[in-house]
Amino acid sequence: MKQLRLGKTGPVGSALGLGCMGMSGMYGPADRSESIATIHAALEAGVTLLDTGDFYGCGHNELLIAEALKTAPASRRDAARISVKFGAMRDPAGAWSLYDGRPAAVKNFLAYSLQRLGVDHIDIYRPARLDPVVPIEETVGAIADMITAGYVRHVGLSEVGAATIRRAASVHPICDLQIEYSLISRGIEDEILPLCRELGVGITAYGVLSRGLLSGHWQRGGVGPGDFRTYSPRFLDGNVEHNLTLVEALREVAVARGVTVAQIAIAWVVARGPHDIMPLIGARRRDQLAEALAALDVQLDAGDLAAIEAAVPKGAASGQRYAAAQMAHLDSENGS
Ligand SMILES: NC(=O)c1ccc[n+]([C@@H]2O[C@H](COP(=O)([O-])OP(=O)(O)OC[C@H]3O[C@@H](n4cnc5c(N)ncnc54)[C@H](OP(=O)(O)O)[C@@H]3O)[C@@H](O)[C@H]2O)c1
Repeated sequence: MKQLRLGKTGPVGSALGLGCMGMSGMYGPADRSESIATIHAALEAGVTLLDTGDFYGCGHNELLIAEALKTAPASRRDAARISVKFGAMRDPAGAWSLYDGRPAAVKNFLAYSLQRLGVDHIDIYRPARLDPVVPIEETVGAIADMITAGYVRHVGLSEVGAATIRRAASVHPICDLQIEYSLISRGIEDEILPLCRELGVGITAYGVLSRGLLSGHWQRGGVGPGDFRTYSPRFLDGNVEHNLTLVEALREVAVARGVTVAQIAIAWVVARGPHDIMPLIGARRRDQLAEALAALDVQLDAGDLAAIEAAVPKGAASGQRYAAAQMAHLDSENGS
């Protein structure tokens, strides 16, 4: 497994991380035993970063990871690093409300996550979104207090813009920014990525397969109620037809290279930052994981990159990456 240091100050580990969100309902029902088998297979293959959020399935995802870690071989369990997002609040029916980044809330969320995960510390702890009424310095300061107390190792951020990254980094070194980055979500390239490089902040890129759209396997009509893809603009009628033509153009490049669409999409992100961008892949089955891991062996040369760019030019996707109400919570899109 290729290795990567997450930012200037973060842990050294696998160059690809496993995102566990889809194992707790965000993409419709998931198979619990297959989810655990997928986490085990990832650890066995040398994946060290597992990403979760306390709000994924309202605690379900953390409990699932705890079970997978408990039943994994000790050496694999010890090598695992857990990244947890907090702050997104939900009601018992699962409806989303606001984000809470108050220092007291940070410590409260953390206390419950440690219990659910069955660990004595969390490797990377990050607010899922900026709480617009709490200065980021206070939220990061609370995480820094928890580092001093031994409950957290590193501070991460998620979906924040350049000004917030600078303010956060003035309080404590930031290990990584978790943010959507893919062939069809290239918003970080102009300002956020250069700033992260300047500050030594790594990137954990999510949505590398654009929630399955860029996997080459996704077909219209395959999603049920509650699946993110039933309301995500890029999957909606009027946009999805065009987006699937981009996938077919990418497939031609992939076939010519003897790899799959998912592999070329992952390899492209790796090529954009071999030393500071870690793709966080949302595989929820072992076959998906195996396909994703094989992408680390795909070396793209200048000709390949040009062919990919021609197939899927920057800004080519139809529709925004989130519905309007969710876009409003993205400091990365709305901040300076
Ligand atoms: N910080 C944030 O705001 C944020 C937001 C979203 C996600 N995340 C994190 O990032 C992780 C990855 O994000 P994501 O789930 O949106 O990303 P993704 O990797 O773009 O999409 C995952 C989906 O792609 C499909 N897929 C098809 N072939 C695949 C393959 N070979 N390997 C993997 N997936 C394949 C699966 O769809 P099917 O379900 O149809 O099988 C899977 O559910 C999440 O698990 C979560 O930990 C963070």
